[in-house]
Amino acid sequence: MEIYRAHVLVCKGTGCTASGSEAVLDAFEKEIEKKGLSKEVKVVQTGCLGLCELGPNVLIYPEGSYYCTVKPEDVPEIVEEHLLKGRIVERLLYKEPDTKERFRSLMDIDFYKKQKRIALRHCGLINPEIIEEYIANDGYAALAKALTQMKPQEVIDEIKKSGLRGRGGGGFPTGNKWQFAANAEGDIKYVVCNADEGDPGAFMDRSVLEGDPHTILEAMEIAGYAIGASEGYIYVRAEYPIAVKRLEIAIEQARNHGLLGENILGTGFNFDIFLRLGSGAFVCGEETALLASVEGRRGEPRPRPPFPANKGLWGKPTIINNVETFANVPEIILKGADWFSSIGSEKSKGTKVFAVGGKINHTGLVEIPMGTPLREVIYDICGGIANNKKFKAVQTGGPSGGCLPASLLDMPIEYDTLVQAGSMMGSGGMIVMDEDNCMVDIAKFFLTFTQEESCGKCPPCRIGTKRMLEILERITNGEGREGDIELLENLANSVKASALCGLGQTAPNPVLSTIRYFRDEYEAHIKDKKCPAGACKALIHYEVVPEKCKSCGVCAKVCPAGAISGERKQPYKIDTDKCIKCNSCFDRCPFDAIVKI
Ligand SMILES: Cc1cc2nc3c(=O)[nH]c(=O)nc-3n(C[C@H](O)[C@H](O)[C@H](O)COP(=O)(O)O)c2cc1C
Ligand code: SF4
Ligand code: SF4
Ligand code: SF4
Ligand code: FES
Repeated sequence: MEIYRAHVLVCKGTGCTASGSEAVLDAFEKEIEKKGLSKEVKVVQTGCLGLCELGPNVLIYPEGSYYCTVKPEDVPEIVEEHLLKGRIVERLLYKEPDTKERFRSLMDIDFYKKQKRIALRHCGLINPEIIEEYIANDGYAALAKALTQMKPQEVIDEIKKSGLRGRGGGGFPTGNKWQFAANAEGDIKYVVCNADEGDPGAFMDRSVLEGDPHTILEAMEIAGYAIGASEGYIYVRAEYPIAVKRLEIAIEQARNHGLLGENILGTGFNFDIFLRLGSGAFVCGEETALLASVEGRRGEPRPRPPFPANKGLWGKPTIINNVETFANVPEIILKGADWFSSIGSEKSKGTKVFAVGGKINHTGLVEIPMGTPLREVIYDICGGIANNKKFKAVQTGGPSGGCLPASLLDMPIEYDTLVQAGSMMGSGGMIVMDEDNCMVDIAKFFLTFTQEESCGKCPPCRIGTKRMLEILERITNGEGREGDIELLENLANSVKASALCGLGQTAPNPVLSTIRYFRDEYEAHIKDKKCPAGACKALIHYEVVPEKCKSCGVCAKVCPAGAISGERKQPYKIDTDKCIKCNSCFDRCPFDAIVKI
């Protein structure tokens, strides 16, 4: 094996690829060749490092120097200065947005320092397209251990003991699910990986598949051994082309290495894995709809029971687990259930990956021990609210989750506490909102999504969410009526109680949680015909504050509707009849002389 004095890791996750990391990788390879460093410095393409918004991201070891927004033109300087002369290129190092401090090593940065990476352990570290890199980092050692040292029931017991719960939304104990399938009668059984990831803004599963595809194959094989299955399917959305390509490569490599297929590791265990591409319907992430889609039928949920563990794919006992759930499995087998259950909190073990977005300084991928308070994720890891604005709410659980207010910032992130607070863990979307977000408008946004994604099979969801949306639309249009809040609550509770699948059962959560914590905003819209956040267009108008206006004319120049007029030394004026409420003047006035009323 060749030993290199330095490694240049170039992120080739979707985020960095979109911002041009392919050209950066290419530039490094050429420059290192040109300088005759090919035998000393190794260039490695990796999966997501987490801070995608700063991409293309490059990490150089052994120093751990983290260079952001790297362009191909920067590469000769990095090679010359860092790799030849040992001088770190300060100007490209990661910079803390508030303090402007630059950090010399990745591990000094708060965003990384406070994370604990289990599911993401290989992402950003290994080349996901080279099986040897996975093997060199304990890859397939858990499979070898399970096949040679453990009986199938011992594998299930270990997963049960670890306390691992599903990371795909429901939080069902994984070991119990495996036990049901193991106990179910059937000559053929299946293992399915749910890689549909339909929550808007979520990319946890995509990052694992792109950065560490072998870990999913290994986990599915372990699951197959545990329940007595010899076939597995990964249902991955077609909009994830990099993930699909890396999975295809990984499957091919694992087969060629005797790690997938017949007589794995010479133990007599047979297991193979196949891909099925989804077309992006949110409802196809629901397990029974997913199974229908894998079978080539229309992706519609069906009533449960029977549960897939008894009657799943083609009527056979099947386990369905989420990507992140599977990503934990090899580590649990290798390091033991006690190790895993020592991380996290009493009722929620291990870690959880979140895709944090919204009005936050660092948007990106974060893996934290369960039980970490929301405040720590939002302020300590993700750097707090952007533009010095005030925190208003955080939405966890994607479109099925709820919005939690500032008074709950110290709440630990656990399955049960989130549900008690009217939200849920979900698959890991976390959207932060500030004082400019209207909570009625936010509820309308999420319900619009779930309403559009409803498959229409059952009336409570098909009709109930439509009626709820109409009420929210009239409230935000200034046409709300007395009693609308109560009507929304009644409808929401009926839809929750009677919808056939999880989509309808959880769709009212954003509405109920915003009514619970931000009722005054609903009342202001309905009674006073005002939007306190200034977000609902129908309820606001723009005015110039004469005392503040310096007659600079900027607003008139940016107004696309010709609604602003004025002359030198006179305060400018807005014609509200012409104004289309685009907000440009408000954003651009250098003297804060424009107000929304
Ligand atoms: C509308 C809807 C969409 C879902 N989408 C996903 C998804 O994209 N990925 C996922 O793993 N689970 C999703 N689920 C949850 C699955 O039905 C299922 O519970 C999960 O895949 C089980 O795996 P786990 O136990 O490892 O979490 C969804 C559920 C519903 C109701
Ligand atoms: S709850 Fe909605 S998505 Fe689920 S089956 Fe009924 S109509 Fe379809
Ligand atoms: S941009 Fe502001 S200060 Fe300048 S004219 Fe318009 S309102 Fe007045
Ligand atoms: S909000 Fe837009 S349309 Fe209205 S006055 Fe300002 S710039 Fe013109
Ligand atoms: S894709 Fe590069 S950091 Fe996420």
